[in-house]
Amino acid sequence: MENIAVRGSIFYTTDDPSKNSNAVNYLEDGVLLIENGRIQDVLDGDRFGGDMAASRRVFEYPNCLICPGFIDSHVHFAQTRIMASPASGLLEWLERHTFPEEMRFADAAYATQVASEFLDLTARNGTTSALVYPTVHYGSTDCFFEQSANRGLRMVCGKVLMDRNAPEGLCDTVEDGTQDTERLIKKWHGTGRLTYAITPRFAGTSTPEQLASCRMLLEQYPDVLLHTHLSETHEEIEWTLGLFPGFEDYLAVYEHYGLVSERSVFAHCIHLSEHECQRMSDAGASALLCPTSNLFLGSGLVHARRLAEKGIATALATDVGGGTSFSMLQTMQDLYKVGQLVDEALSAAELFYLATLGGARALQIDQFVGSFESGKEADFVILDAGNSGYMNQRLANSRDFEDQLFLFALTGNDSNVRETWSMGEKIYSRDE
Ligand code: GUN
Ligand code: ZN
Repeated sequence: MENIAVRGSIFYTTDDPSKNSNAVNYLEDGVLLIENGRIQDVLDGDRFGGDMAASRRVFEYPNCLICPGFIDSHVHFAQTRIMASPASGLLEWLERHTFPEEMRFADAAYATQVASEFLDLTARNGTTSALVYPTVHYGSTDCFFEQSANRGLRMVCGKVLMDRNAPEGLCDTVEDGTQDTERLIKKWHGTGRLTYAITPRFAGTSTPEQLASCRMLLEQYPDVLLHTHLSETHEEIEWTLGLFPGFEDYLAVYEHYGLVSERSVFAHCIHLSEHECQRMSDAGASALLCPTSNLFLGSGLVHARRLAEKGIATALATDVGGGTSFSMLQTMQDLYKVGQLVDEALSAAELFYLATLGGARALQIDQFVGSFESGKEADFVILDAGNSGYMNQRLANSRDFEDQLFLFALTGNDSNVRETWSMGEKIYSRDE
C-alpha cells in the first residue's frame, strides 16, 4: 500500500466538544500523512515539504474540508428500498411497508443486490462505518458481512432476532436464532474490520425466552454488542408493557433479561423517564439519535442535550428506511432543528462529533476510527461546496471555520461529498 499525504482544511474531534473545550481540532491548511492505510500524523501545511512530500503521493484539496468518515450508528440496510413509505406511525409502518419488504430478503440474491446498493449509497454520502440491521434471515446478514469485507469497510451488524408478532416468514425460533447468531459470530466477529451485535428487533417481537437467550449469548461472547430499539413511540411503549406485564417501564424489560450494560446501544430513546435515563447512564449504555426518522414517523422529539447531560453516550443515526436520508449531514440538520424546539440546540462541532467519534464510541470501534489520531485507520471524507452556488459564495466569503462547519451541517447533503476514503483508499468520487 502506498504512502500518501492528503492536504486541505482538516477538522476532527478527539472528545465531546460539549464536555471538553480542547476536543476540537482544526487546521486551515493541514496535511494527513497516511501509511499503510493508517493515520501516521496530522501536520500544519507549512511543516510539509522536502523528503516527507517527495516520498509519498500527495493529494491536494483546496477549498475542501477533510473530516473523519461519517459513522451511521443505526441503519437498516434491508429498508433501503422503502424509504419514504407513508404511515400514521411506527407500528403501522412496520406492518404495511417494512415487514413485507423484509420478507423479500429470504432470497439471498435479492439481499445481495440490496446490500450492494446500500453500500454504494453510504459511500456516496461519506459514511464509512455503520451499525446495521439486516433482517431475520441468516443469508441477509452473511451477505452484508461478506460485501463489507470485500470492500474493506469497518462495519457492525447482527442477524435480527424476532420470534413473535411478525409474519411467519419473518419469525425465527429461540433455537434457530441462537444457532444462526453463534455461526455468524464465529464466522465474522473480528474478521478483518467486522464486528458483531446481537440484535433482538425490539422487545415486542421477541418472546421472554428469546430475550433470555440474548443474555446467554452476551455472556458467551463477551466482546459483542447488544443492539435494539427503545422508547420510540408512545404506542410502542404501551404495547410493550402490555406484552411484558408487571415491569415499571420499557427499559426495565431489557434490564430484566440482562441486556443493559456498557455493551448496549439503543436506537431512539425519545420518551425515557428521568429514572430510565439515570439507569441507562449508570449502566453505561448508549443512545442512538435518529431525528429524520422520528420526524417522518411522528415518533417524537429526541432530547439530545438532556440525554448527554444525564451522562448517556449519544451518537447520530439515519435509521433508514424510517429515516428519510442516507446523508449524515441532512441528519445533523434535523437534530439541530429538533434541538431548537426541545432543548438547547447543538453546535456544529457537536453535530460533527455525534456523526464521527460519538458514533465510533457507541459502536466501540473508537480505537480504530472516528478521528485522525495517529494509528487510526484512514477513513475520511472530502466535503466541498458541490454544485451549490450559494455555498460556494458563502465558503469563499467566510473566514470563520465554525461558520463553515455550521453551513455544511445545516445545508449539506450528498452533493457536498466530493470523495470518500476507507483505509487510505478512495472508495467514492463524485466527479469521476
Ligand atoms: N422498531 C422496531 N423495528 C423498527 C424498525 O425497523 N424501524 C424503526 N424505526 N423502529 C423499529
Ligand atoms: Zn431502527
